[in-house]
Formats: sequence, C-alpha cells, structure tokens
Amino acid sequence: MVSGSEELHQRRVAAVSRGVPSMLSSYMDRGTGATLTDVDGGTWIDFGSGIAVTSVGHASPRIVEAVRAQVERFAHTCFMVAPYESYVAVCEQLNELTPGTHDKRSALFNSGAEAVENAVKIARHATGRAAVVVFDHAYHGRTNLTMALTAKNMPYKHRFGPFAGEVYRVPMSYPLRDGGLSGEAAAQRSLDLVEKQVGAENVAAVLVEPIQGEGGFVVPAPGFLPALSAWASANGALFIADEIQTGFCRTGDWFACEHESVVPDLVTTAKGIAGGLPLSGVTGRAEVMDAIHPGGLGGTYGGNPVACAAALATIETMRELDLAAAARRIGSVLVPRLEELAAKHPVIGEVRGRGAMVAIELVDPSIPRSPAGGPAPNAAATQALARECHAHGLLVLTCGTHGNVLRLLPPLVTDDETLHRGLDILGDALAT
Ligand SMILES: Cc1ncc(COP(=O)(O)O)c(C=O)c1O
Repeated sequence: MVSGSEELHQRRVAAVSRGVPSMLSSYMDRGTGATLTDVDGGTWIDFGSGIAVTSVGHASPRIVEAVRAQVERFAHTCFMVAPYESYVAVCEQLNELTPGTHDKRSALFNSGAEAVENAVKIARHATGRAAVVVFDHAYHGRTNLTMALTAKNMPYKHRFGPFAGEVYRVPMSYPLRDGGLSGEAAAQRSLDLVEKQVGAENVAAVLVEPIQGEGGFVVPAPGFLPALSAWASANGALFIADEIQTGFCRTGDWFACEHESVVPDLVTTAKGIAGGLPLSGVTGRAEVMDAIHPGGLGGTYGGNPVACAAALATIETMRELDLAAAARRIGSVLVPRLEELAAKHPVIGEVRGRGAMVAIELVDPSIPRSPAGGPAPNAAATQALARECHAHGLLVLTCGTHGNVLRLLPPLVTDDETLHRGLDILGDALAT
C-alpha cells in the first residue's frame, strides 16, 4: 500500500535536499497516455510531459515492452567496454533524422547538460578555438560549463560560481521585447558584438536553442537562425543547435531547425528521444565528430542499453503514429483557443510557439513599457494561474527569465478531447 501525498511529503522533507523542489505537492502513482494518477487517486491532465520528455505518452506499450525485453537480456555492459547493437542503431537513427544529408556521426550520453558539454568539447577540439557564443534567456543545463552557458541567475547559477570561462552572451531575437527587429537585424546586432568583443577568429561555436525552452519559449524572428548559421560557416565556427527541448517531433518537425532549413554542424538531443529514460546525444559532421581522439568522449552509462532500447521504440512509435503531424494538429487546437483567451484577458501579452510547444506570456497591461523591453512581465499572475490549473487537475509548467510564461507541452499522443478539457481548465483558471 502506498502512502498518501501528505505522508510522503513529510518523509521527503526529512530525506531529500531542499535544493530539489517539486512543483506539485501530490506524488504520482502511475500514468497512461496524457493522464497521470497520484497516490491519493487524483487524476491529472499532463500538459508538461515531464518537461517535454514523454512525447509518446506515459506507459507507451511498445516502450514498456522494449525496456522489459532489454532488462531481461542485460541492463548494462558499458559501451566503451563491451559494445552492443542498440547503441549503434540509435546513432544511425540520429544521423538519419537530424537535419542535413551529409555524412554524420553521433555519440550518446545521459542528460541534456552532458550532451551540451560534449558538443562544446567537440567544437573546441575540432576548431582549435575556445570562445562559445550564447544568448540572453538561454538554458543549457546545470553542470559547471552549462551553468556558464545558461543565462538566468536565480535559481540556476546563484552562488554556484566560479563558472567556466570563454563564454560570451549576446542578445536573442525576441520579437515581443526587441521592438520587433527582423531576424536578420537581430542577428547582425549580436554578431557585431561578437566581432568587436570576442573576435570572429576566436569563436569555436555559436550555441542556440532554435526555440528557447526554459528561457520562455522565445521564438526568434524568421531569418535569425539562418543568419547565425551562415555567419558561423563563413567564419570557421560551428553552429550548434541545442534541440534538447525542441527535438523529436515536438515542434511539428523532427527538429525545429528544419522549419527554416537550417543545417547545424552539431545537434544536441535528449528529453523526447527515449520516452522517459535518460539518454542524450550529440550528432554532427563526420569530420568534426571523428576529429576527437579515442577515449576523448564517453562515460560509464552513456548510451545505456535499456535507454537505447527505449529510444528505438520511441522513434518507431514517432514514425508509425506520425507524431510530427500530431504536434502540428495539437498546435492547431491550442493556439486558436489561447488566442481567444488572449482577446478576453489582457493579462496575456502574447501567444507563441510552434507545434506542441506553445506558451502564453503574461504581462501587466497597466504598465505599458518595462525595463525588460515591451510590456511589463507579470510573474505573480503566472504563478497564480499555474496554481489554479494545478488545483483543478491540469499540470502546466512555467518558464521565462522573468518567470511570466506559462508553457504547454502535452504528450504528442494527446487527443483533441483531452486538449479541450485542459484548455477549459486553463480558461476557467484565467477567469478566476
Ligand atoms: C534546451 C535545453 N538544453 C539543455 C537542457 C538540460 O537538459 P538536462 O536537464 O537533461 O540536463 C535542457 C533542459 O531543460 C534544455 O531545455
């Protein structure tokens, strides 16, 4: 018999570091598709997918079976000691699915942060340069190097320094808050800074999320990503797309870069890749990936066979159910209804996103301009709205440098009826 959430909370306070908080006070017991059930029998519509991970839904049968079968065969050998087919097969899939038809190689790791760290290692090694260009509002992880790459101080970086060096931050294209600069103009503004303050010849990589995740679901203006990519290739730097949150069908394509036909030199993947098991990857040009000496990349658990089995089952499910198309359908349900809500509630400053990665940015309409540029961020309303949704069984997440963005990341298998039920709860919560 499982204990109820209250009892579990007491045990948690006595056992778990305060540094690892949870958004919900309810403890989960099981999940299926887009629904979670907690230990007290409460049910939740999951519009968070464990932060964009369970795109194939909870307890997806093919993944359950693949994991079970692999654990029965062997759970671990370490690919660097005794290799196995599924690691190779996941790399083959990554090489095929990521943008570009050029010759590619991949390497597998455990977490998103680890993939980003390795992408930077690879870029520095391959170019013989040190500087890494990153953007305002960026989020790339919580390890030492990825904290340096991440923009927001609280809670990610506060008092955790000193951070890794040779990281240079420049403005992001953020149409709501940069006066609607074109993508090309926004890129030029940032690249001018790089040329003056860093020197193009010192840049190993330009690292960017094609749509920013934790930073607020910031969708750059069209032309921004192609301009960055073109500058990198003209200047001997690598363009790294961090597709950890946007990848694997989330935005309606296999990868978000495809939307503007951008072909990155390196792509980092994680989250949606393996249906909930920890797996991440770096995929890139063969000559760049193979520039690394044997033993320069790896780790005990990277590309663990159980996670690889789950990834292969996830990719098969995504192909079979055409989850990229499903993400586009989900977007076509979410966005018009959110726009209707925005027309009624001036607290919604913008509805944005792509596919099944959609957010509303909440503002204070009584303050027309703010130091953040554009309308004043309204973090208090965002927190209140999220709490109200949670109180009525809709699991939503918040994000944004100013904490004023409510993001929706439903599993890509969510049906229209469930989407509408979730949106009804959100609409009622806004009215409240
Ligand atoms: C774009 C992006 N990069 C990197 C990370 C870090 O991934 P992980 O939490 O698996 O280390 C995240 C996690 O949210 C992310 O969204």
